[in-house]
Amino acid sequence: MNGPGGQRLHHVVKFAAKFVHDKGTKGRPTSDKRNYIPHMLEMAADSSLPLSPPPGASADWTVPQAWDSYTPAEHAMWDQLFARQSEMLPGRVTQAFLDGLDVLRMGHPGIPDFDELNERLMQRTGWQVVAAPGLVPDDIFFDHLANRRFVAGRFIRTPDQIDYLEEPDIFHDVFGHVPLLAHPVFADYMQAYGRGGLRSLGFGALHKLARLYWYTVEFGLIREGGDLKLYGAGIVSSFGESTFALDDPSPNRIGFDLKRLMRTKYRIDDYQQSYFVIDSFDDLLRQTMETDFAPLYAELEKSEDLEPDAVLAEDRVITRGTQAYALAKAG
Ligand SMILES: [Fe+2]
Repeated sequence: MNGPGGQRLHHVVKFAAKFVHDKGTKGRPTSDKRNYIPHMLEMAADSSLPLSPPPGASADWTVPQAWDSYTPAEHAMWDQLFARQSEMLPGRVTQAFLDGLDVLRMGHPGIPDFDELNERLMQRTGWQVVAAPGLVPDDIFFDHLANRRFVAGRFIRTPDQIDYLEEPDIFHDVFGHVPLLAHPVFADYMQAYGRGGLRSLGFGALHKLARLYWYTVEFGLIREGGDLKLYGAGIVSSFGESTFALDDPSPNRIGFDLKRLMRTKYRIDDYQQSYFVIDSFDDLLRQTMETDFAPLYAELEKSEDLEPDAVLAEDRVITRGTQAYALAKAG
């Protein structure tokens, strides 16, 4: 598979596991039981990824969802996860997410049928959800986004994996990501990200741009009606992080600044040590569209990366975290 300039792509969009302790009612580890929760976009050199689609997949690496093949137990797993997050999220998540669940009729029991979901999603914003069998190369992933197609895993976790996954399943991908694709501005942001991703391949700047995805699409917070609300898919699909990201005194919560954020490393193995807060989806889209990324990448090359818990004098600090959670885990 060749990228811009005929350069062979070594990076893939890799899904990794995230390591967290079981949490008690006050958000503190209560036992040695270790749970994993899914997480998302992690760039890694992965020479093991085949250069052509796996057997049964189309040239764009998609496969049929095969909705009829889900078992009653798999539908029940979806319903259990859906009920748990639906109880947790009202009042904590952006209204746009709840509106998306509503207009896409995602409260209907069972794993969503992509054909039905896409009919409603297409009407709202022209987006579609497509199924993929697993890892998808960067250029394929970005090309789907640039064409308003969101790539989702078709499998669902089993009961013993309720908080453990090595690759995101359909619950993370569809419950976490799809409701906001019904929001016109966020939908445009995701497409813009895909286009930017394709361009970034030519600059060798993918790992910098990945941070933008990470700290917005996956782990973003938004200011809404004077309060902070969740919108990142990695948070809203995670029982533990839905609480931690908003309520725990441990993490920093810092006003969104594109350049600063793209210097900031992130945690792939645990809850984030910093969350970035956007003022609105309009502002996020505007800042992204107005930025000329070529000189920004050049500038970032000269800047030092920041640790996940860094706080700078020029930051708009909303909450200065104690980092107690991360320190306890490290200790
Ligand atoms: Fe994700």
